[in-house]
Amino acid sequence: MDNRKAILKILNLTKSLEGLKVVDSVSIDIARGRITGLIGPNGAGKTTLFNLISGLLRPDKGEIWFEDKRIDTLPSWQIARAGIGRLFQDIRIFRKLSVLENILLADPNHPGELPLNLFFNYRNIARIEQKHLESAEYWIEFVGLEGKKDSPAGSLSFGQQKLLAIARLLAGGHKFLLLDEPTAGVNPAMIKSLLNLIQRIVKGGKTVLFIEHNMNVVLKIADWVYFLDEGRVTSFGRPEEVLGDTEVRKAYLGV
Ligand SMILES: Nc1ncnc2c1ncn2[C@@H]1O[C@H](COP(=O)(O)OP(=O)(O)OP(=O)(O)O)[C@@H](O)[C@H]1O
Ligand SMILES: [Mg+2]
Repeated sequence: MDNRKAILKILNLTKSLEGLKVVDSVSIDIARGRITGLIGPNGAGKTTLFNLISGLLRPDKGEIWFEDKRIDTLPSWQIARAGIGRLFQDIRIFRKLSVLENILLADPNHPGELPLNLFFNYRNIARIEQKHLESAEYWIEFVGLEGKKDSPAGSLSFGQQKLLAIARLLAGGHKFLLLDEPTAGVNPAMIKSLLNLIQRIVKGGKTVLFIEHNMNVVLKIADWVYFLDEGRVTSFGRPEEVLGDTEVRKAYLGV
């Protein structure tokens, strides 16, 4: 991969948790405007790597660069404001608020914060800036939730909740999205919608790094793949190459 095209660079990143090296000298480059898959067995350190990138954990050693900025010393809200958005494994939406209200909370000027004060001041929809509302509606339609705009987020299916969480990242203006198992726990039809959505997001100029256990999904949408095993990157390349790698097959697929 051409390094000049990297939006994110990780150099020799190491993190121990409770005495165990969970991320061990990891170096990766993420290609701008592409979809990169991060795969590996349970407990390999994938989510921990996301926690390090998004500033929820501090590395013991190593560096993380986002565009021209070193981010491994920044608080998570500044990392979010720099343009890195994250879909959590457990989604984290406001279940009692409507779909629209959830999106309105993703104020593009404050993508890393929860602007609750702003939200309560603006509780009356009529007083919300027209542009803000139009943008929220645009992203709701973009992810295909227009029919659910006024429904409580908690009433949506798990897959629809993922669509909502992704719409919120998009409304927040993030240009680099970390998606932790976007297709886990959703039905095949919804997986199709999610993959189509991820591809449209990247066509719009954004970059995606996603963690995935479903190898069909990886083969279908990833441009590049990193394989993580016991905290170390042991394989990198095109999806077919990585999934064909004998060591990867032994360590992960058990074949
Ligand atoms: N807060 C923590 N304290 C101690 N150990 C942790 C903590 N978080 C994760 N670990 C351990 O670090 C290792 C990596 O966990 P991580 O969640 O990053 O794996 P993962 O690759 O995302 O796995 P999965 O595919 O199951 O989601 C595991 O051994 C886990 O038990
Ligand atoms: Mg995980």
